[in-house]
Amino acid sequence: MNYQWYPGHMTKAKRQMQEDIKLIDLIIEITDARVPMSSRNPDIDDIGRNKSRLILLNKSDLADPKANESWIQYFKDQGYHAVGIDARNKSGIKKVQNTILEACKEKIERDRKKGIKNRPVRAMVVGIPNVGKSTFINTYAGKAATKTGNKPGVTKGKQWVRLNKSVELLDTPGILWPKFEDQTVGERLAMIGSIKDDILNIEELSLVMIDYLREHYAGAIEHRYEVSVEGRHVEVLERIARKRGCIKQNQEIDYAKAAALVMDEFRSGRLGRVTLEYPDGCGEEDA
Ligand code: G4P
Repeated sequence: MNYQWYPGHMTKAKRQMQEDIKLIDLIIEITDARVPMSSRNPDIDDIGRNKSRLILLNKSDLADPKANESWIQYFKDQGYHAVGIDARNKSGIKKVQNTILEACKEKIERDRKKGIKNRPVRAMVVGIPNVGKSTFINTYAGKAATKTGNKPGVTKGKQWVRLNKSVELLDTPGILWPKFEDQTVGERLAMIGSIKDDILNIEELSLVMIDYLREHYAGAIEHRYEVSVEGRHVEVLERIARKRGCIKQNQEIDYAKAAALVMDEFRSGRLGRVTLEYPDGCGEEDA
């Protein structure tokens, strides 16, 4: 993890978020589509009471398309607006634009009744580290966006990026803190690479991954490594190691190297589009 979440940092991040949220109409919460629940922090529901809400499932290019659909429906059923995107490739961005206006329909209507015309919707991007907040802001704001500079009441240094005539975005995202107290959450964030590998046991992680893939994405390992997935997970890792030449100088199997390879290939999507948790609880037993 790029950030160490000591209680002091958490309190500071929360206080900053509470201040920023006073300035905006809409919270754009970014999650990782492979772990939409584990990459959220429900504290935002409390901090963002009374604000319009949009949840983006980013990195949907890496997640299972069917699961993306289920998650979008799940969040909609909970009363959020929700869209799947791939911020890196600019996919889904047009839909985001339309959904922002839809999400702020009531505010726009209220303004219109008061005779206020052309006041843009103000939005802020929030999310835990590494979900793609900066990528989204860069992609969405693009080159066309113009910075509108400081405004009264805005903390010095903060800028609004004018996206078009109807939407303004705070140029710095709000960083939410992951829910590390839940072990399953920690493990899933480790799987997607949000926690630094040097503080984890990568071998254990790769074995959990092998089991998960065997159960939920039959064929993914066989297809990528051309090995059998029969037997214990550690035997599967051994076969992958042999196939990929992860052998130490003394001819022993280099499990650590093979484990790093499996995790890297999963994280970059080379093992296919995989989702690690589903709205109906599928995946719970594996983590
Ligand atoms: P943050 O501000 O929330 O901390 O996240 P950031 O935008 O820095 O993105 C974290 C990583 O996720 C970056 O990769 C970024 O390229 C990647 N990313 C963001 N959106 C998407 C997406 O929709 N799909 C995919 N596949 N990846 C996405 P990185 O490895 O840290 O850097 P780089 O590879 O871009 O150099």
